Amino acid sequence: MLRRFLKWLGIIAGGLLGVFLLLLVVLFFVGSRKVNHTYDVEIASVVVPTDAAGIARGKHYIEAVGVCQVCHGQNLAGPNADRCQVTSCIGFSDDLLFGKAMPRNLTSGRGGIGGVFTDEDYV
Ligand code: HEC
Repeated sequence: MLRRFLKWLGIIAGGLLGVFLLLLVVLFFVGSRKVNHTYDVEIASVVVPTDAAGIARGKHYIEAVGVCQVCHGQNLAGPNADRCQVTSCIGFSDDLLFGKAMPRNLTSGRGGIGGVFTDEDYV
């Protein structure tokens, strides 16, 4: 009686494990396809003003509206490691699960993206 019970228990447990493993494999492939999917995006062309008024408006947007300096540092050259520890800043991550996300250096200086990004990249 006990042997029959254990036998069926084993069959059911094995079956469930098999279904679980199959599900895992299917989800892995479905997930991989979605993550690696590439989209064609049409980028609208913009005219970026470079006159004094445009620069002042950009400075206002950066400092007062976007508060970009909170994460990207006062001069936008990246966070100051002494004043802005990764874990104390909102939106940053440096752990195994979510990976590392550090604010970029936005200037056109060494290591900055300012000299590399085109207007379309920002759009
Ligand atoms: C809450 C913190 C935070 C604020 C506020 C913030 N950023 Fe960022 N930014 C980040 C982080 C973190 C990254 C790096 C993301 C990554 O590497 O995936 C980043 C990356 C960027 C990048 C590079 C994107 C790329 O594709 O490499 C640009 C450009 C940028 N930020 C511009 C801005 C501007 C402009 C503002 C203000 C309007 C701003 N950020 C405000 C945290 C912030």
